[in-house]
Amino acid sequence: MNPVSEKLSKCYESMKDKVPFKPQIALVLGSGLGDYADEIQVESVLEYKDIEGFPVSTVQGHKGRFLFGHVENVPVVIMQGRVHYYEGYAMTDVVLPIRLMKLMGAEALFLTNAAGGVNYDFRAGDFMLIRDQIASFVPSPLLGPNLEELGPRFCDMSEVYDEDLRVIIRKAAEDLGIPLKEGVYVQLTGPSYETPAEVNMCRVLGGDAVGMSTACEGIAANHMGMKICGISCISNMACGMTENPLSHKEVQETADRVAPLFKKLITTSVLRIAKHLEA
Ligand code: HPA
Repeated sequence: MNPVSEKLSKCYESMKDKVPFKPQIALVLGSGLGDYADEIQVESVLEYKDIEGFPVSTVQGHKGRFLFGHVENVPVVIMQGRVHYYEGYAMTDVVLPIRLMKLMGAEALFLTNAAGGVNYDFRAGDFMLIRDQIASFVPSPLLGPNLEELGPRFCDMSEVYDEDLRVIIRKAAEDLGIPLKEGVYVQLTGPSYETPAEVNMCRVLGGDAVGMSTACEGIAANHMGMKICGISCISNMACGMTENPLSHKEVQETADRVAPLFKKLITTSVLRIAKHLEA
């Protein structure tokens, strides 16, 4: 058996009896956004370290666990803390939790992250609906033998971020009076923040926000045919765009400041997405 497939099966076997729960929507909470979990009725918690073979996240401010519960009546699985490529894991490990959430039964994936604003029209604290992504600077999680049971060798990437879900989130933001920017997310490896020249490069390439996660997860989920949507919290303007040097502290402080609005937007969007999936 393919080792990637084997590891995935092992993790799935190790968790499925511990948590017999079928989520409809999977949510990934980015840096500083993990408090969203306070919004849901948590029914079970599964620490990543208790799943056999699971890559364990090491970043400060990232908890490492799955939460299972309901947003109102919608069954969700939440990743409170993700696995990053810069931690030294293989890309296949980085996306393993995404694949697991699909195996659990999640039909849709809601990705969130903290990101640097590359677009001069953005401000720290803005939300950006992800329209598309650039993942060309990190290895694809699909390299190596194709996992035929998950998806095709050459998968179409023409609409990674589902148009219907984007319409739903845009409308939710409008109804809540929350301004929502929209744009292209660029994933770089990190862990250093970008140089001003790299930020320029991202802009020239058509990027609006830059970060160290998410796009590889988008590829893995798209490969499996999940419906995907994503929101970046612009926690800072990217390097060189303001006078200030960047710090992880700033990223977290901005995320904390906008957390209440973020929670509202996620909850309303999740409820409407669930309705849409059932229709
Ligand atoms: N660059 C990369 N990743 C980030 C940033 C940034 O400016 N802010 C939050 N995550």
